Amino acid sequence: MLVLDLGGQYSQLIARRVRECRVYSELVGHTITPEAVRARNPFALVLSGGPASVYSDDAPCVDPALFELGIPTLGICYGAQLMALELGGRVDRTGVSEFGRTSMEVTESVLLADTPAEQTVWMSHRDTVVAAPEGARVVASSPATPVAAFEAPERGLYGVQFHPEVVHTPHGMDVLKNFLYRAADAPPAWTPAAVIEEQVERIRVQVGSERVLCALSGGVDSAVAALLVHKAVGEQLTCVFVDHGLLRQDEAAQVVETFGEHFHVPLVHVQAQERFLELLDGVEDPEEKRKIIGREFIRVFEEEARRLGDVRWLVQGTLYSDVIESGGTEGVAATIKSHHNVGGLPADMRMKLVEPLRLLFKDEVRLVGEELGMPERMVWRQPFPGPGLAIRIIGAVTAERLEILRQADSVLQEEVRRAGLYGELWQSFAVLPAVRSVGVQGDERTYGYPIVIRAVTSDDAMTADWARLPYDLVETISARIVNEIPGVNRVVLDVTSKPPATIEWE
Ligand code: XMP
Repeated sequence: MLVLDLGGQYSQLIARRVRECRVYSELVGHTITPEAVRARNPFALVLSGGPASVYSDDAPCVDPALFELGIPTLGICYGAQLMALELGGRVDRTGVSEFGRTSMEVTESVLLADTPAEQTVWMSHRDTVVAAPEGARVVASSPATPVAAFEAPERGLYGVQFHPEVVHTPHGMDVLKNFLYRAADAPPAWTPAAVIEEQVERIRVQVGSERVLCALSGGVDSAVAALLVHKAVGEQLTCVFVDHGLLRQDEAAQVVETFGEHFHVPLVHVQAQERFLELLDGVEDPEEKRKIIGREFIRVFEEEARRLGDVRWLVQGTLYSDVIESGGTEGVAATIKSHHNVGGLPADMRMKLVEPLRLLFKDEVRLVGEELGMPERMVWRQPFPGPGLAIRIIGAVTAERLEILRQADSVLQEEVRRAGLYGELWQSFAVLPAVRSVGVQGDERTYGYPIVIRAVTSDDAMTADWARLPYDLVETISARIVNEIPGVNRVVLDVTSKPPATIEWE
């Protein structure tokens, strides 16, 4: 299914929701031509919402010939207004904006079949459709929106003024499913198993008998990408895991065990801990730390690649959201984002790229990982920055301070998991500040480090709220950290959201 993006904030969400209904969907620019659409042969089209008024001069529009292709089409909000305007209906500037939850009444229809006669939907619009397209029936209305939904099933035309893709529309997924399964006859065939089969086939064709290299970071993206490639071409793949010594407790061992021992992926485990520590010696500036780690990572990786000889392909964990952000949906070749999680891979390695996750959203990567049998701990791991613990140690990184933070973080992770909160939190971790304070432990006066507990909820890391951890949990973490870790005599809780703070401390 193709989602024609008319600039709405929810366009990506529509594509994701459709995929949750197990129908493969892609976001395309609204200027796509009818020929290009026909060439893709989609089951259905969706016209997204958009911030413009259909009456403004630069209002984005679609080629009206799209409506003649016989492909079932659903207009959402602005998309529905565009359909109405183009097909003989009427759109008014009512002067009344409608934002938020609204109750609407529903009549018998394809689009709203098996949903309640009266239901809540999420509205966000200024203009509104006041007359449905010619020959279309009005199938839902609210006091402020006389045409909340319309349909002309025999012509494959459907429109909704509300947003079925947002969670505030409780029956929104039913509406999308009705459109996909009943109106467009699209089978729910997009499953993790189908994705794997398709990608494996594609990778085999792409790389032939040549060798492939993949950098593992411990994160879910590179892990899933590597497993897909391994499933496709087996021992032609070599994974390189650069252990910079800035990972959390047991993480490096887990990578080696999962890939080397469990999946039998040829794995080079580079023990580069000392190299990184030496370079970080005395460095306090966060950006300087990041640069050093990124640069050294590339250096180590290149050394290993050279050692392996003739390798033509490099695996990259580019996600569909990266492709969208870099304009790849407009049919323009996507520029690959340089900030890959492991610190950016060498641009001048002259290797061709294999990107097995290019069509997947993050949540789909996880489902594919599960289907491939990856351990749950790895599949559902919270995000972890490429420079690792180095940017959670304020001031200079030393082996001693790394060990303190690693132990404190390990206690925190263990207790957060035990409390069943790990999956609910976007990130939860410990930070080691560069101050010391006085304490009294046993009969002794101490002068030790504090540990900061940082836990946030978030959808995308752009904004975040500090997590209201239960006090009992905070107490357990605090008691364990000061009792178990020498050199720590105090635990504090970070109660700042983003903005004004950032999630990380550096
Ligand atoms: P901030 O601290 O900016 O973090 O609120 C937002 C998200 O980005 C992660 N982060 C990084 N990830 N390299 C990374 O790969 C980095 O240098 C880096 N700095 C921050 C952070 O963990 C959070 O998820």
